[in-house]
Amino acid sequence: MTAPSLPSRRVSVLDLAAAKRHQRPIAMVTAYDWPTGRLVDEAGVDCVLVGDSVAMVVAGRDSTIPATLEQMIYHGEIVGRAVTRAMVVVDLPFPLQHLGVRKAVASCARILKETGCQAVKLEGTAGQADVIAGIVAAGIPVMGHVGLRPQAVHQLGGYRMQRDLDHLLADAKAAAEAGAFAVVLECVPAEAAAAITAAIDIPTIGIGAGPQCDGQVLVLHDLIGLSLGHVPKFVRAYADVKTTLADAVAQWRADVTARTFPA
Ligand code: KIV
Repeated sequence: MTAPSLPSRRVSVLDLAAAKRHQRPIAMVTAYDWPTGRLVDEAGVDCVLVGDSVAMVVAGRDSTIPATLEQMIYHGEIVGRAVTRAMVVVDLPFPLQHLGVRKAVASCARILKETGCQAVKLEGTAGQADVIAGIVAAGIPVMGHVGLRPQAVHQLGGYRMQRDLDHLLADAKAAAEAGAFAVVLECVPAEAAAAITAAIDIPTIGIGAGPQCDGQVLVLHDLIGLSLGHVPKFVRAYADVKTTLADAVAQWRADVTARTFPA
């Protein structure tokens, strides 16, 4: 089976379904602003996630719970303009998937209309299946998110690995059956992620979930070494932008002090 290469047009839900069929791993990364949206798109990722992690990595909050719909739309619109090829997915912020189907559809519709992005992601268990089905019925592509759900951090007792395979499988299956086009598996054992990936027809996108998911997602600031907060153990940093940035500014400041800048 020959894996299809990346499309030069906008990546769609059909491309992600084909990636699973052809076993071509999907790459998704977060972005929250115009330059990083541009750069990650040019790097060839399949999906760009405007995650509610913006509240932590950009705004310095200690959880994703404070992220608001207005903030997600603000960042989504910027990234939506910057990214021309990857699919742009915007997080539905807490607690909009818990306030009934109508409220969730209205919020997701605002995200699509006001950002120009292509899909929404929502955290949920099997209990949110009706909400996913309602949003999908409105023609809005939904990515589910099961396992560690950061919006439920206080109920889960912290950012911990989620190990109950029966619950994980039920949540992922419920998302798939409700019409989600993909599902994020966050912080679940690799064997559980592999079992879920084999059990459902839609792509699984892992974060701290081992190598056997259909794709992987990382927070950009973790991937490039720019995070100032806690970085999970499973992250591999591919650059040290924090040091590069601090060194550049310190060097410039020294040049200003020495009157060697400007020349
Ligand atoms: O908000 C986010 O960045 C996410 C990823 C960690 C999957 O949900």
